Amino acid sequence: MTNEDRSLELSPDALRSLIDAAAERVVAHIASLADQPSADTDGGAALARSLAEPVPQSGRPAEELLDLLFTRVIPKSFNTAGPGYLAYIPGGGLPHSAVADLIADAVNRYVGVFAAAPGLAQIEANVVRWFCDFTGYPPEARGILTSGGSLATFSALVAARRDRLPDDFLSGTLYASDQTHHAIQKAALLAGFPPGNVREIPTDDAFRIRVDVLSQEIAKDRAAGRTPFLVVGNAGTTNTGAVDDLGALADLAAREGLWFHVDAAYGGFFLLTEEGRRRMAGIERADSIVLDPHKGLFLPYGTGALLVKNGEALKHAHALSADYMPSMQEDPDLVDFNMLSPELSRDFRGLRVWLPLKMHGIGPFRTNLEEKLELARHAARELAQMSGIEILAEPQLSILAFRLARAGLDAPALDLLNRELLERINAKKRVYLTGTMLRGRFVIRICVLSFRTHRDRMDEGLEDIRTAVLETGSATPRNGSASSWTSI
Ligand SMILES: Cc1ncc(COP(=O)(O)O)c(C=O)c1O
Repeated sequence: MTNEDRSLELSPDALRSLIDAAAERVVAHIASLADQPSADTDGGAALARSLAEPVPQSGRPAEELLDLLFTRVIPKSFNTAGPGYLAYIPGGGLPHSAVADLIADAVNRYVGVFAAAPGLAQIEANVVRWFCDFTGYPPEARGILTSGGSLATFSALVAARRDRLPDDFLSGTLYASDQTHHAIQKAALLAGFPPGNVREIPTDDAFRIRVDVLSQEIAKDRAAGRTPFLVVGNAGTTNTGAVDDLGALADLAAREGLWFHVDAAYGGFFLLTEEGRRRMAGIERADSIVLDPHKGLFLPYGTGALLVKNGEALKHAHALSADYMPSMQEDPDLVDFNMLSPELSRDFRGLRVWLPLKMHGIGPFRTNLEEKLELARHAARELAQMSGIEILAEPQLSILAFRLARAGLDAPALDLLNRELLERINAKKRVYLTGTMLRGRFVIRICVLSFRTHRDRMDEGLEDIRTAVLETGSATPRNGSASSWTSI
């Protein structure tokens, strides 16, 4: 074996041709997103099985590997980057961030410790500061970028636990509405709380937490010797985009001495819009806020953010030192991210936020978010005109929920009817929607958040819903198979 065979270093020419070959595929892929089906996972399990393999003993040409990815593997998925993706919580995935990742990974600098890459650490600190500005947080606020909202929530709960509870914290109880994302429940579990310590508070007709019931539950827990320590406010629930009364929750948290956490993973960046600021009034009074740039800032998956109003509380929960570590900064303006985060080594996430924001400025982000609010309102207006459709959740931000109602059908039959309707809509492959359960009833959601979704695609989706409603009434089972709803 020669030295050349052993080397993992790519020559400058080889590196350039690898980047060029990848760039060519990426550019073609992105140019075709709108023409790709909104989802195509038929045969996905067989594909996955065909890909399982032992560790390769010898190398293959890059072109062959790119072919495999772009012709066989990537197409078999939900088109989460495309304009028709109105499922779960989209975002689109700005390709600028992919270029930022290429740079960040290629230079492979270390940003967890300020001393190791001061300028790059400052770029990430700028991003966190900009997010603090969006939420109205003071200069002493601190934050971190995480892999997503779930991990950001975990750190929030650990910070709250350390700030408000003794080391023996099992009497601590926390409160969140029945519409809250399960990231809260999971974070509580990971932070050491048994599931029973998380109290689920009912919601009103608009799916907002019942603050009166919350007060009563807190009083009951205190009377039983428990230690209420944290309340969660939603700034946009996943089910319906509901925004809790954050001002009322802030008042209650202040009265009761509770840590006030806001889950703004989905809704937070609507603070850039006037309507969002109005709906989320009071968010600046929260002790901690989770935002997901890979949702409302349109970034690719892999970037969440946690902001903590009292930066010292975040530090107190995460800072540890060791003899082999370099010295940390004394100057409060210079941030050592490892002291605020569970992570030591990690990717350089700041650049993927910084590059698109610096290239465009904040204006187009705001305009895109305003457009999404209007698209959701437009969809709600159009759906309300369709015979048999009822809106179960009007858009508070950019999510709405609806279902098809038919006289004479009982609850299980209506659920089946709507599952069938959802399948028929998605089968047209122009939009991809998902459902959820609201008060025990199956409903169909539209969540519009991608920077690639505009009025043309929304209108195509509405046309598909209209057609699917007519088909659903025709009692002709799709694919010719007997479907359960037709027999009811
Ligand atoms: C409201 C809300 N909170 C938290 C999360 C969890 O975020 P992530 O998927 O980034 O971990 C989500 C994800 O959709 C969400 O919608």
